[in-house]
Amino acid sequence: MIFRHKILLVDDEPANLRLLQRVLGRDYEILSAQSGTAALDILKQSKVSLIISDQRMPGLTGVQLLQQSLALDPDAIRILLTGYTDIQALIDAINTGQIYKYVQKPWDAEDLKLTVKRALEAYELRSSNLKLIKDLQSALAKLENISIGTITALANALDAKCDYTSGHSLRVSRYALAIGRVLGFADDQLKDLELAGILHDIGKIGVPESILWKPGRLNDEEQKIMAMHPLKSVQMIGDIEQFERVKLWVKHHHEHLDGSGYPDRLTGKEIPIGARIVLVADAYDAMTSDRPYRMSIGFERATSELRKFAGKQFDPEFVEALLSAVGENGEHLSSNGIPESFLGLQLGSIDPLQSGKQHLVEAARLRQTGL
Ligand SMILES: [Fe+2]
Repeated sequence: MIFRHKILLVDDEPANLRLLQRVLGRDYEILSAQSGTAALDILKQSKVSLIISDQRMPGLTGVQLLQQSLALDPDAIRILLTGYTDIQALIDAINTGQIYKYVQKPWDAEDLKLTVKRALEAYELRSSNLKLIKDLQSALAKLENISIGTITALANALDAKCDYTSGHSLRVSRYALAIGRVLGFADDQLKDLELAGILHDIGKIGVPESILWKPGRLNDEEQKIMAMHPLKSVQMIGDIEQFERVKLWVKHHHEHLDGSGYPDRLTGKEIPIGARIVLVADAYDAMTSDRPYRMSIGFERATSELRKFAGKQFDPEFVEALLSAVGENGEHLSSNGIPESFLGLQLGSIDPLQSGKQHLVEAARLRQTGL
């Protein structure tokens, strides 16, 4: 049987409900309610993928309903229908109600169908990400000794599904390793560097795609959400003794030498050594791979940028170690563009030449649809 998403429609006007039902009823299973309270009652019984609510209703408003529905069904996607420009209600809705999108009335049937389709794709992506987090935690919890197969599968899955530039975390782990090797790190440190590189950004699974793929600068609110990702990464790794040092490195991988980083504004040697290394590796990969909002700046410029910010953001010792490993123009990189793994992790389906391309397409689509 084909899975049909359940959509809850909420509007106090029966005629509006019928209209929505006519547009969406062919493709989805529809539940409907004529008030916020009735909608909450339905959510106590049924799990839905999407809630579409009118804003202006007697009793609970759409925003209030969508906020209260979070406690009953945190995973559902929420869309608000607004018939007038109530800016404050929208701001509240977006800030506290986790609204995916608002749709201005009168809506166009084709536009609405497309918005619903996209919303349900977001729902599916989020569900598969949640499953991935669970798999990750149980895989990590089971590890007595690092299982190469498990970590490989994990890294491939994370990069393919969750990262905004395919292969980013694997490349960061390799650059971090390259630095560790130049400095003669012991095996246990190399192992932790590689793991920290792979796991550093997994907390981004919880950052909405609209922020991850935003082509322009992030506003304050978006920056705050983005800045939570190292802490979220730590939470996702969970409570495993053998990952204590990896977690510390992951937590501080956005701290800058001069104290301008996050989450704790640590300075200089206060920043754990592995975190300072991952920062350099992360920045190098960010500059040398294509992102939704800009293309690679090339190895030569990346080299001069690293040197320019050495002593401010980056630890100069690690900048030089990386550059001696990869070459001033990336000329020492192996044919597939990345240094070798220590744990024996494979890149699987990830093609470094395609890195970021899929996400450029996605960013263009987001811009076009205005989602
Ligand atoms: Fe990060």
